[in-house]
Amino acid sequence: MAVYDVIGTTYTSTRRPDARIAARIAAALGDAASVVNVGAGAGSYETARTILAVEPSPVMIGHRPPGSAPAVQACAEAIPAADGAADAVMALLTVHHWSDLAAGVAELRRVARRRVVVLTWDQTVFRRFWLVEEYLPEVAAFDDTRAVPVEQLAGMLGGARVEPVPVPHDCTDGFGAAFWRRPAAYLDPVVRAGISMLAQPGERVLRPGLARLAADLESGRWHDRHRDLLALDEFDAGYRLLIDERETGA
Ligand SMILES: C[S@@+](CC[C@H](N)C(=O)[O-])C[C@H]1O[C@@H](n2cnc3c(N)ncnc32)[C@H](O)[C@@H]1O
Repeated sequence: MAVYDVIGTTYTSTRRPDARIAARIAAALGDAASVVNVGAGAGSYETARTILAVEPSPVMIGHRPPGSAPAVQACAEAIPAADGAADAVMALLTVHHWSDLAAGVAELRRVARRRVVVLTWDQTVFRRFWLVEEYLPEVAAFDDTRAVPVEQLAGMLGGARVEPVPVPHDCTDGFGAAFWRRPAAYLDPVVRAGISMLAQPGERVLRPGLARLAADLESGRWHDRHRDLLALDEFDAGYRLLIDERETGA
């Protein structure tokens, strides 16, 4: 069974699209009138201009809200759409799951007439995030094995523009670093179930680090160490938008 057929069951309870990140994605998509969403999951960040969602997990497809764009059960590596089928193709927090990155990226570029937009993270920055650096080094090691180096991906995307995407302190989309200012959230198994870097290694691996986090929250040690974070409204954990302008369009 695929990863998201297991961890997808509670996904939509913690992974609600964040309006500020949605605005960044919308700006990156620009004037594209039609969008194909690859690795679409439950359809976060889709708008009325989405014409097709491509997603391998039937569980995730089952979470798509009624009335959303048609979804096809397929992988990025073989997108069932014609060349130039949409103005833009987007792939959000998904490239690290693909079995053949080069094939998937080639497919994004084949299907996009004008623009490819990818949201991913820079592992060299993410590694310094307090959760993985101080409590869960095993998770950082796991992410090292699957994170796609941003420079490499930008090169594969024809020299894509790279934009940082800071995470708001009250981010509604519960991805890996979403709870940077709400540390107790990581003690919630439902929150962890919606974050693949925490769901995939398994609870046994996480237990000692989470026990230390719980103790540090209880004693006030976490707050003493991270007082600086508590004063911030947003935080750069390494999330990056890559924008590949294929044509200026006519
Ligand atoms: C973290 S979720 C992101 C979903 C959605 N883009 C979002 O932002 O909420 C990653 C998604 O990538 C999908 N995925 C895994 N392997 C894939 C592949 N080879 N091609 C396309 N999507 C894939 C998973 O099933 C999952 O739905």
